[in-house]
Amino acid sequence: MEERRKKTIAITSGKGGVGKSAIVSNMAYLLSVMKKQTYILDADLALGNIDIMLGVVPRFNIRDLINGEKSMQDIIVDGPFGIKVIPATSGIAEFSNLSVEEKTILLSSFQDIPDYDFLIMDTSAGISSNVLYFNAISHDVFVIVTPDPASLTDSYATIKVLHKSTMRRDFRILVNMVRDEREALDVYRKLLLVTDRFLDVSLDFGGYIPSDKNVNLAIKKQRLWAESFPETFATKALQQICDRLVY
Ligand SMILES: Nc1ncnc2c1ncn2[C@@H]1O[C@H](COP(=O)(O)OP(=O)(O)OP(=O)(O)O)[C@@H](O)[C@H]1O
Ligand SMILES: [Mg+2]
Repeated sequence: MEERRKKTIAITSGKGGVGKSAIVSNMAYLLSVMKKQTYILDADLALGNIDIMLGVVPRFNIRDLINGEKSMQDIIVDGPFGIKVIPATSGIAEFSNLSVEEKTILLSSFQDIPDYDFLIMDTSAGISSNVLYFNAISHDVFVIVTPDPASLTDSYATIKVLHKSTMRRDFRILVNMVRDEREALDVYRKLLLVTDRFLDVSLDFGGYIPSDKNVNLAIKKQRLWAESFPETFATKALQQICDRLVY
């Protein structure tokens, strides 16, 4: 059998509401369709984001694991399409910043995650110590940016802090909610202009997803757009991004 890849990916952003959770859940769906065993670590503080999108009801979360009350196997939830979810938030209690010891426990418990190809971390927006940590332990970091000027400046600030605190140099920029590829490249180049000037980092163009009304239609019905609208622009664009991850 083909060797599992065990690739961890953090999906992060400076500004909130740029589509991280939507991208994470639909990416997990498309990767699962491609027969890749995919886990989502739901580290988003916004209440029940991934849970609701995937219709899962976690009983335990990372806090129970860190407290030593539950094992990694206990907290993993089976989602639809073979997607597995590692809940980081309880939905009520805030996922407070982890101490160094707690981070060590968490990292070593990653070894108990059964065979996987991709572990995608949906981080909350901004730069709390937890967000920095999840970005630090990921192989790849995708920063989600939109054409909104606030998203651009917040992305720059986030990349700066991630670079300074974790020494990571490589980031992938995924531009969401654009008209077309030209607008996406324009946003990417604007960001590149300031990072090239002020930071020692390297930004890869990781792809783009157009603004697509079917995304909102599906979300309102609590469905995954990649499943409900396999031929819509957003799905085709995300499929290309997933293809590049797999091949
Ligand atoms: N490509 C797109 N086309 C149209 N609407 C989109 C697209 N991507 C995201 N959205 C809309 O943006 C909204 C925010 O998405 P989402 O909750 O995934 O963002 P987020 O970055 O996870 O937010 P938060 O920072 O609060 O966790 C959703 O309501 C979704 O409908
Ligand atoms: Mg979210």
